[in-house]
Amino acid sequence: MTVHRIHASQHLDRPLPEVFDFFSRPENLARLTPKGLGFELRSADRQMRTGLGIEYRIRPALGIPLTWTSVIADYTPPTGFVDVQLRGPYRSWRHVHRFSEEGHGTRVDDEVTYTLPLGPLGAIANALFVRPSLEQIFGFRRAAMEDLLPQRDVSATPMTVAVAGGSGFVGGAIAGELHRRGHRVVVLSHREESAGERLPDGIEIRHADVTTGVGLAGALRDTDALVIALAFPNLPIEDARRGHTFEAVDAAGTERLVAAASTAGMKRLVYLSGVGAAPDADRHWFRAKWRAESAVRDGGIDFTIIRPTWVFGPRDDSLNRFIGFARTLPFVPLSNFGDQQMQPVYVQDVATLAADALVAEAARNETIEIGGPEVMSMREVIRRALRVARVDRPLLPAPAPIVKGVAAVLALLPGRLLTPDAIDFVNQPAVADNRMLFERMPRQLTSLEDGLRTYFGATST
Ligand SMILES: NC(=O)c1ccc[n+]([C@@H]2O[C@H](COP(=O)([O-])OP(=O)(O)OC[C@H]3O[C@@H](n4cnc5c(N)ncnc54)[C@H](OP(=O)(O)O)[C@@H]3O)[C@@H](O)[C@H]2O)c1
Repeated sequence: MTVHRIHASQHLDRPLPEVFDFFSRPENLARLTPKGLGFELRSADRQMRTGLGIEYRIRPALGIPLTWTSVIADYTPPTGFVDVQLRGPYRSWRHVHRFSEEGHGTRVDDEVTYTLPLGPLGAIANALFVRPSLEQIFGFRRAAMEDLLPQRDVSATPMTVAVAGGSGFVGGAIAGELHRRGHRVVVLSHREESAGERLPDGIEIRHADVTTGVGLAGALRDTDALVIALAFPNLPIEDARRGHTFEAVDAAGTERLVAAASTAGMKRLVYLSGVGAAPDADRHWFRAKWRAESAVRDGGIDFTIIRPTWVFGPRDDSLNRFIGFARTLPFVPLSNFGDQQMQPVYVQDVATLAADALVAEAARNETIEIGGPEVMSMREVIRRALRVARVDRPLLPAPAPIVKGVAAVLALLPGRLLTPDAIDFVNQPAVADNRMLFERMPRQLTSLEDGLRTYFGATST
């Protein structure tokens, strides 16, 4: 029987007791796990100690639930603990977590040893699915730790910044960056719970719904600046019945927010738009974005509009979905033959620009496009991503009309799994004109591969 090993090691710029405390709260496991795994902590007893049983559920492939029970075999604060699988998908699983002081911060070491059932079949499953998945999980964990326990770099003039959409992918990265710089951050969310799950402790969550206006005025109380990074749930699949449309959230929601910010006497505004926004754009989402941009320009508040291309990062729902396909299917489906030209931009580059723009004179009342340093076909993006994620799968390119036909059928079924519009959204090219960026806010941009390496391939096996 082969014993497989994974080792990951990381420095965090936070004191040992704080880091250990974070890891000894089982509820933080969800914050360290990719959203796509559907992690759910099921046990109620969360008091860490030797002998504590922890039960959770994950959905590693095709939404099929898998229950996993482990026990804390050894708990030695503040230097380590060990969890061992009692019941789960592995024949055996042992995860040693070690923490030690390193300079002013903490070194975190994860050492996993596991064995699989089914003999030679298990070995094949390990090479094809298990090891790539574990590497992805540990890579994500590394990036999540940086986000949740960030190195603070306290800014000279801290502000209180409201971030609408701060519980989301791009807005979350911006909220994290502002928090790291020492600003007080308030995230606006229309969810009842778990909005702060992906954010560092210390960020305040306030309830507000931009489609109804409920809670908006109160949520903007005592804030100096506003970042808007709104998108409706399950984008790009619109659901008019639930108000999940570009018009309702991007356009009308932004108009409502800007009006409330203006009443609140806000000093500065950053709006996350998208490359392609125009009054006469072919696609209705770009016309909605233009409507939102117009509200921002006419709102009487100093603003910066940022138009990113296609944003990727450890928490994105798009590029990660392709890698998810690769982990669960024998091929990676690719609409439009993957011909569209893309210029993927790393989420931290967008977050840094947004945080800089909030205070930079050079960005005041400007519209700035941002794309990554390289333009390539979508096919090439996926190829490079699979290479960095170390998953080897053939691409299955399909012509756009066929994929749209399938989407038209799926759109008629309950749950609207896909729509022809969503396929158009995915198939569109995303290329920026970075001239304004380099003129006004010069900076280095992260290549696709360097960005991906921050959350893939961060382990040794
Ligand atoms: N991702 C990309 O590749 C990309 C590229 C170019 C531009 N952008 C732009 O960046 C922005 C953010 O995109 P994203 O990918 O980060 O989206 P996301 O992860 O889906 O986040 C969207 C956010 O909008 C909030 N929201 C939705 N409905 C709301 C409502 N009724 N009231 C208040 N808040 C609401 C959600 O917060 P709660 O659920 O907590 O309420 C969530 O935090 C969008 O404007 C998008 O056009 C994104």
